[in-house]
Amino acid sequence: MTMKTLSTSAGAPVADDNNSISAGERGPLTYDNHYLFEKLAHFNRERIPERVVHARGTGAYGNFTVSKGMKDYTIARFLQQPGQKTEVFVRFSTVGGGQDSSDYARDPRGFAVKFYTEQGNFDLVGNNTPVFFLSDPIKFPDFVHSQKKNPRTNLPDPAAMFEFWANHPQSLHQMTILMSDRGIPYSYRHMHGFSSHTLSFWNSKGERYWVKWHFKSNQGIKTVTNAEAAAMPSFGAQQDLVDAIDRGDFPSWAVKVQIMSEAQARTYHINPFDLTKIWPHGDFPLIEIGALELNRNVKNYFAETEQAAFAPSNLVPGIGASPDKMLQARLLAYQDAHRYRVGVNANQIPVNAPKCPVNHYQRDGAMAGMCPAHGGGNNQDDGVNFYPNDRTAQGAPAPDAATGAPPLPLLEDAWVKAYDTSEADHYTQAGDLYRLMSEDQKNQLTGNIADGLAQASPSIQERMLGQFTKADTDYAMRVKKAIGQRT
Ligand code: HEM
Repeated sequence: MTMKTLSTSAGAPVADDNNSISAGERGPLTYDNHYLFEKLAHFNRERIPERVVHARGTGAYGNFTVSKGMKDYTIARFLQQPGQKTEVFVRFSTVGGGQDSSDYARDPRGFAVKFYTEQGNFDLVGNNTPVFFLSDPIKFPDFVHSQKKNPRTNLPDPAAMFEFWANHPQSLHQMTILMSDRGIPYSYRHMHGFSSHTLSFWNSKGERYWVKWHFKSNQGIKTVTNAEAAAMPSFGAQQDLVDAIDRGDFPSWAVKVQIMSEAQARTYHINPFDLTKIWPHGDFPLIEIGALELNRNVKNYFAETEQAAFAPSNLVPGIGASPDKMLQARLLAYQDAHRYRVGVNANQIPVNAPKCPVNHYQRDGAMAGMCPAHGGGNNQDDGVNFYPNDRTAQGAPAPDAATGAPPLPLLEDAWVKAYDTSEADHYTQAGDLYRLMSEDQKNQLTGNIADGLAQASPSIQERMLGQFTKADTDYAMRVKKAIGQRT
């Protein structure tokens, strides 16, 4: 291979990359050190803001292969025929810690999948849990503040976490999962993924279905205890994934959906759009539709994983959102985060760029023109930049009404107002989960809760015990006993 000449970022050859130019051997540096200034200035700007949540993560490419065509339910082209393959990029993450925190925090894990479909990117930005702590997005910033570090000490603050949970019984179900023996995955390969939210499908007849997505790990579930987690290297889950893919041991997940018709949703006893609730499998069985495999590591962590921008608003014809209030807010929040964190043209970066042509009338902004998929690159050259125009016959893009979602009737005769759900049933599903646990699992759960709750005030402990009692009296009794053993 011929040796390459080192160059400046503008392509000019560099004569010396070891010594700055100085006035005399012992003298000060001079202004003609522009190459030194270029290096230092670029270095100063090497970081972009970390994600405000899910900052620590790791990603890989792979494929989604359909095993059951879904055309009865959706017009989404990538889901029509068994055997259809779609390239994906998946990023796993922890939630609360910063970029340099541990992979082994007791924390939900992000499970974000970008499907590069022929009709644009579909992003399923889920977690490894089927539910979430909240059902109303107005609580999200408060929740995250309470779970991250204390603003004064910059240390973890279990008392603040429980102060939030004591005031928000809607968190009980997810908190029970988090504190259980499943709360710390051994690796990203050994956990399931969930859309958690209800999304939707619609078919060629304009019929809409409500859909929850599940990714079931073919590696099985493997978890660690608090003590085992403390002994793990902080980068262990990332290494596990990179190493497995490098040695050809490709991790995979069975992809399944639960489907509810609009008519069923109207009468089902659980609000299908409440993110704190599951749909029991007995009522809505899992239907296997395909397989997800990860088989290619990134070549550059920053370019691909760090700049990856997943958005619940990345939907394709045949797949829609739902009235889930949390999901509705997320449709806005992620694109906004990307504009701040990565830039207004984040979708032109290769990892985010669709594999299909992108035709639109958006122009300019920082870094415009990076991606050939976007109107041929080069900021769409001299293409017309407004719509409507008289040039659609010459290739100017126009909307396609056939790709639009069927109209959504309001599911109830409703007032526009803030709805108080504090008195809803936050306890039955948490209690059901508790009752499914073995003796050992119940003891691990209640011990993990007591570790943190013992550090909170008596009033917080009392309110939490009130919540556990409503879920299951044995649940409350064991937590109380475990707190007693720690104080
Ligand atoms: C109102 C509720 C929520 C808001 C406002 C919110 C907001 C955010 C924001 C701002 C980010 C950083 C995005 C970025 O910089 O690229 C993020 C990341 C993420 N969120 Fe949420 N979030 C919410 C709820 C949820 C829920 C319920 C889930 C899972 C079911 C979830 C899963 C994720 C994942 C997996 C990531 C990381 C994506 C990646 O790997 O880049 N979030 N969230």
